[in-house]
This record gives sequence, structure tokens and C-alpha cells, in this order.
Amino acid sequence: MHHLRDRGHSHSVPSEITSRAAYEGRRDWLKLVAGGAAGTALASWASRDALAQTARPGKLAPLPGARSPVSGAATMERLTPYQDASTYNNFYEFGTDKDDPAKTAQRLKTRPWTVAVEGEVRKPGTFDIEALLKLAPMEERIYRMRCVEGWSMVIPWVGWSLAELIRRVEPTGNAKFVQFVTLADPAQMPGLRSSVLKWPYVEALRMDEAMHPLTLLTFGMYGEILPNQNGAPVRLVVPWKYGFKSGKSLVAIRFLEKQPKTSWELAGPEEYGFYSNVNPTVDHPRWSQATERRIGEDGLFAKKRATLMFNGYEAQVGQLYAGMDLRRFF
Ligand code: MTE
Repeated sequence: MHHLRDRGHSHSVPSEITSRAAYEGRRDWLKLVAGGAAGTALASWASRDALAQTARPGKLAPLPGARSPVSGAATMERLTPYQDASTYNNFYEFGTDKDDPAKTAQRLKTRPWTVAVEGEVRKPGTFDIEALLKLAPMEERIYRMRCVEGWSMVIPWVGWSLAELIRRVEPTGNAKFVQFVTLADPAQMPGLRSSVLKWPYVEALRMDEAMHPLTLLTFGMYGEILPNQNGAPVRLVVPWKYGFKSGKSLVAIRFLEKQPKTSWELAGPEEYGFYSNVNPTVDHPRWSQATERRIGEDGLFAKKRATLMFNGYEAQVGQLYAGMDLRRFF
């Protein structure tokens, strides 16, 4: 196996065509892949062996993933340095300054850990983190992340499509929304003393958004398990929405009939809507959303980048919102 090294990260080359067996195993899953991504994908699947060598910072236990076709546009972009991605964080349970989580999340105990799957499903249950790690093949997805605060990063996440879990628990016909509940433990999380948000931090997606193959249940980044400050041991990553939709350190996933309120909606209903799709044409009431600053790359005086509709994932997710007034449903 050989790799193309590009800006410190290794990529499998197109000649690494998947074996027939691996392809067969993934075929069901590929049916879920929206649009044209799957066609070009097959040529770029790499073997597990090759991916075990994925470049990583060597700080935490390795968690390699097969290179995924679902990453979309961001795969050609320069990765944000691990150092920036792991020290410039929003995780209010550990403090509201960007460097607080890297300092105080070390005390978070990520084992034992379970995620309860509840509500409108035929097969509810409590999943141990070790079982979740094995539930579906790990993939590496290079996603652009855009925070509502006007900065962005490009991060190689490791996980599998949330749809894998959703299909296994068999949602009932009443399941219209999926709520994500994160840990709220005052003994481990000093930020809970603040009333900046209502705890636990909760987020939610519409069922079709949750089922979209881009929606990633995430266990790692940069070829390793997640650092605590990035949401260990398991978080969500929804790349076409502002970062706050991507809840960290999940303890429950609930299938609901009615649209639930989210923590940020409760904190500021005029500022943070349920949908929270990255949309450069809908300003935050206090600032423009038309541009963004790329963390780790741009200097203080560097030109900002134009923010892309749906964070650049419009071809994949635009149809989910066809006919909706995105100014009303922001
Ligand atoms: N999840 C929890 N539980 N608590 C939080 O404060 N912040 C959100 C999101 N998930 C947050 C959270 C916000 S505002 C952003 S931008 C992303 O996490 C940041 O993820 P990152 O630090 O891995 O880049």
C-alpha cells in the first residue's frame, strides 16, 4: 500500500480499489448515500490495513477509519492543525472561554459510558460505548465545520453515519424528530455552575436530517479517539449546520413525535432557530454570517472567506429544505 502525503495527512490513492467482499458488505449502506457521491466513492475505498497508517498526532489511542465517499467538498481543503482543533473549543460544560475545555475536560470520565436510545422506536435500549464502537465500520470523514460565531475548521472525523444506528432501533411511524441529550454532571463539569444555558445541553434534528448519510456519530478525529474537549467518547457532527447542533458527550438519543426545544433556542429564540443551517444570507441578529475566519490558517488581518450555503454541502442536503422559507425556518 502506498499513500499520497498531503499537508501532513495521508490519503489513499485511487488505485486502492476495494475488494469484492468489502464492497458487498458495504452495499446496503451505500444505498443510503445520497446523490452522486457513491459513484465516485467505490474507487477510493481503501483497505483497513492502509488506513491503520493514517497520520495522527500520537496523543491518544488510535482509531482509524476507512476513507469515506461521503465527506464531500471539504476533502480537498487543508486540514486544521490538531493543536488548534483541540484547544479552540466550545464546550460550555467546561467553561465559556475557548481554551477552558482543553484545560478542564481532562477530568471527564469517559468509561464506563452508555448511550440510551429511547422514545418512538421498536427496539429501545442502552448501548455500551464498546458496543457502539463496533456497531458499524469506522470511516474517516473530512468535514468543514462552521461555528455561528464566524469561524471555521476542517477536521478529519472518525465515526459512522447515525443512520446505521437509527435503522437498527427501528423508529415507529410517530418518530418525527431525534433529540440528542448530552452529559450534565456537576461533579465533573465546572461550567454547570453557570446559567448561561439550561443543562443538559440538548439538540435535535428532524428525522430526515438525522438519517442523512452526512450526519456522523463521531468517536474520533485525526485517526485517534476524541479528546475529551472535542466531545469524548461520542458526539454528533452535522457538517451543514452551525457547530452548536453537534452535541458533545452524548448520553441519550430520543425519538420524538413533536419538535423539541433546543438549549440554544431556549437561551435566545431570536438568535438561534431549530434548523440552524449554515446560511450566509440570514444574518445573526447581532452580526453578519456572510464570511468566516479559518482557524489556524488565517492571521488576524487575513481576508475572511465567503461562507457557503449549507456550509458547502448544498448539493447533498439542499433537497431536505426544498420549498421551505429559510428566513422563517432559520
Ligand atoms: N456540546 C455540548 N455538550 N456543549 C457545548 O457547549 N458547543 C457546540 C458544539 N457541541 C457544545 C456542544 C458548539 S457552539 C460548537 S461550535 C461545537 O460543539 C464545537 O466543537 P469542537 O470544539 O469539536 O470544534
